[in-house]
This record gives sequence, C-alpha cells and structure tokens, in this order.
Amino acid sequence: MAKSFPLKDPVAPVRWTGSLLKVLDQRLLPHKVVYLNCSTPEDVARATKSMALRGAPLIGCAAAYAMALAARRGGFRGMEAAAPKLLRARPTAVNLAHAVSHMLAKGRQAVGIRNFADMMSQAAGRYYALDLQANRDMAVLGASLLKKRNCRVMTYCNAGALATSGLGTAVGVIRYAHHLGKVERVYCCETRPYLQGSRLTLWEFMKAGVPATLITDNAAAHLIKSGAVDAVFVGSDRIAANGDVCNKIGTYGVALAAKRDRVPFYAVAPISTIDPRCPSGSRIPIEERSSAEVLKVGSCRIAPRGARAAHFAFDVTPRDLVGAIVTERGIIKPVNRRSIKRILHAI
Ligand code: MRU
Repeated sequence: MAKSFPLKDPVAPVRWTGSLLKVLDQRLLPHKVVYLNCSTPEDVARATKSMALRGAPLIGCAAAYAMALAARRGGFRGMEAAAPKLLRARPTAVNLAHAVSHMLAKGRQAVGIRNFADMMSQAAGRYYALDLQANRDMAVLGASLLKKRNCRVMTYCNAGALATSGLGTAVGVIRYAHHLGKVERVYCCETRPYLQGSRLTLWEFMKAGVPATLITDNAAAHLIKSGAVDAVFVGSDRIAANGDVCNKIGTYGVALAAKRDRVPFYAVAPISTIDPRCPSGSRIPIEERSSAEVLKVGSCRIAPRGARAAHFAFDVTPRDLVGAIVTERGIIKPVNRRSIKRILHAI
C-alpha cells in the first residue's frame, strides 16, 4: 500500500470500478474533464491508440486493467486473446508489454482458482499502486540531484500525473523539488503536435502551484544557452539496455543543447520502462502517427491543402547525453550497460 505523500494529484487519469475502466479523455484537456467508459480490452486499446490516454506508465497501468477486463469476460483464455490487441495499440512505450506479460504471468499462476477474475482485478490494482509508489520514490531521489535552492528547470512533453498512476516521473521530481524550495520556475516546452506540454504539463503545474512558463519547442535551445536553465528533467517511453533513452520527439534536440551548454540532462523513469531485451536505442521501434496531426494545430488546418507531412512520435537520446537516470530503485549514474544491468538486478 502506498505511503502518505505531501503532494496531491490534480485529477485521476483512470478510475477502476471493478468491472469498468473510466479513462480521462486527455484529448479534451485542459478545457473539458470527460471520462470514457471502457468495458472491454478493445475499448482500452482504442483509447490508447487514439491517445485519449497516453504516457508510458499510464499506458501500462491501463493495459493491466484491460487484462483484468479480459479475465472477467473470458478467463485466462480471454487474457491470452486480448494481449496481442493491446500490444498493437502503441509500439514504443515498453511499459505496455511489461504490464501485459506481468498480468499473463499472474493469470497463469491462478488458472482454475475460483474468483479468478477478482484476483486479476486485484493484480491490476497492485500494478497501479506499485507505479504510484515508484513515482513517489523517484520524486524524492530525483530532487536530490538539485544541490541548491531556487533552480530553474525545464521539462519536455508530459511526464506527470496524467502520464502515470499519479504524481508523474519528471513532473513528480520537479513538484517535489519545488516543495523543498529547490525549484523556482519550470519551463514547459509545448511539444508539437499533440501539445502535451501546453495542454497537460502546464495545467498540472498551475494546479499544483509551481511557477511555470510555457515556451515553444524551438525556444528550448535558446533558453538553455542563455543560462536560464539549471537542469532538464524528462520522462521516457523506453530505455535500452545500453542506457539510450527514447522519449517524445524533440527530446534529443533539448539534450544536445543541454550537453553543449553543460546543463545536466536527467531522465526519470520506473524500472518497467527499461527494456533489457533491447540492446540499444537504434532497435527501439519509433511510432509514426498520422500526418494529419502535423498538418493541423488542434482541428485547424495550417499547411496548404495537398501538403505532405511526416510524424515521428519519439526520438532517442544517446546515453552519453544523459547525466543520470532516476528510477525507484536508485539513481543510475554514469549511464551505461553495466549500471543499467546492476539496477535491474538490484531488488
Ligand atoms: O505520445 P505520448 O504522449 O504517450 O508520449 C509521452 C511521452 O513521451 C512521455 O514523456 C513519456 O511517456 C514518459 S511519461 C512518464
């Protein structure tokens, strides 16, 4: 059970009723708070694919609940049938595969037991609770990386409560550091084209009372170079066995600027984001989404009719640009194959 923690979340990204997963539709934030009712694993897969729910750890938690819905409908066979449908929803965030295989393992152990569906529901709840506790542990560890008061930090995309079971990864670190007086201001990059930074991260910081300034993505390098940023904290969708960090498209550029100007660049991610089977970043599948999302801002078309666009959703920051990776088991520093292996085996 999660210990008490001084910071509260603005809103729950999902709610589990035991037979239904209520999913906050993040496409409508910050203007409307609407929950979608997902009663089948297919509903959860659709909500994930359409980005009604998003963020690597949350995608994993929702998949765990989707497996519990599958268990209620069709027992262990139902879970086996649901797994590939969920895995196809989004390719980059490895937390999805982590949650599905975790639930399959729990299901396999419980085949034939009465109340199988209730057991799977409880297993999904525990998966969710463990993610929340991991976020709290990362917040405390990550804040220790800031050695002085009143730092100005930068973050990219949304690695907050809305991307996890609560609190967030990078946002959790920044909120906790602000609570300790170590953060004076956070710069949020808007994160084209889905605008996770302006719609979601800024909203979370404003609700939490953390002074936050929105910048365009292409202002990040300028701000770093001008000396206005003491550290960068980002989340991750998958970390390869050699320490390469995959995150939202544009993260790599921020990391390059940070390295050039000697600003520490940190990734914050639970152990479930590390993929030991992926040897390096070049093997991480990069999701390509519809070009329509780039040709428009929201529902407003910007580019000329007939224009073509490419939409890469993620990029990979090579490990030599990453000052440290904060996990719930400890801080990985320096970031290399050996230190990643060590944390994976530390229980
Ligand atoms: O496409 P999204 O919105 O799912 O991408 C989210 C990110 O890239 C986050 O930074 C990442 O999942 C870490 S969330 C704690």
